[in-house]
Amino acid sequence: MPVIIKSDDEIAVMRQAGRILAEVLQILVAEVRPGLIVSKLDRIVKEEYERRGVVPTFLGYLGYPAHVCVSVNDEIVHGIPGDRVLQEGDLVSIDLGVTYEGFVADSALTVGVGRISPEAQQLMEVTYQSLREGIWAMRAGARLGEISHAIQSCAESDGYSVVREYVGHGVGREMHEEPQVPNYGPRDRGLILRKGMVLALEPMVNVGGWRTKKHDDQWTVSTLDGSLSAHFEHTVAITDGDPEVLTLRSDEEPIAALSAVAAASGKN
Ligand code: CO
Repeated sequence: MPVIIKSDDEIAVMRQAGRILAEVLQILVAEVRPGLIVSKLDRIVKEEYERRGVVPTFLGYLGYPAHVCVSVNDEIVHGIPGDRVLQEGDLVSIDLGVTYEGFVADSALTVGVGRISPEAQQLMEVTYQSLREGIWAMRAGARLGEISHAIQSCAESDGYSVVREYVGHGVGREMHEEPQVPNYGPRDRGLILRKGMVLALEPMVNVGGWRTKKHDDQWTVSTLDGSLSAHFEHTVAITDGDPEVLTLRSDEEPIAALSAVAAASGKN
């Protein structure tokens, strides 16, 4: 399957999808506190989507049984929200997809529950920064490997490891389109990026090793060594200039702002 290039009109629809997704993710984040039963997040997504007339992309995808993925502590991705009760100090990754007028937006974030350890805080920050550096590498004419390399070098600079088995992806009418976007690898590999490509970048970063295990529920993926894991994801369009983050939330800095800071400090 070739990489599907989106027209400006199609990206305009994906921008709407991204905005809806960002809003609902923010509603979920505001619910996170000690004592929350995680299935409540699933119920909120159902209600918010019904109200907005949009489709839960994850529900029923390969048989996935919920609207949202909620992965706690050593869980990396694809946790099914059930009767788990969040505790002070937990690290919660929330991954959400929406389909709006036939187009998908996909985004994830990790938040702490109440006060979290400095280790958890740092893991979260590094993972978020590695996503941002990956996004900043999304430029027409560059190779896909530039994205992978930017993510990996940021994440591993602090001794963390990047998950190998799960990767970012093209996104559009389907949640998973070509190409795959690994969060590791050499910068001089891969296809040449073009305007109109839309990619979901999603680094998953572990305090310990990169190996994973799948739970008996056939969905939840955890670190093999039980170490903490964080996950951030954005749906991003490649343009003639700076990349456009379609799922940017109102609590986030625009992508150019933070990268300019990084460049000024010599980190880029
Ligand atoms: Co994704």
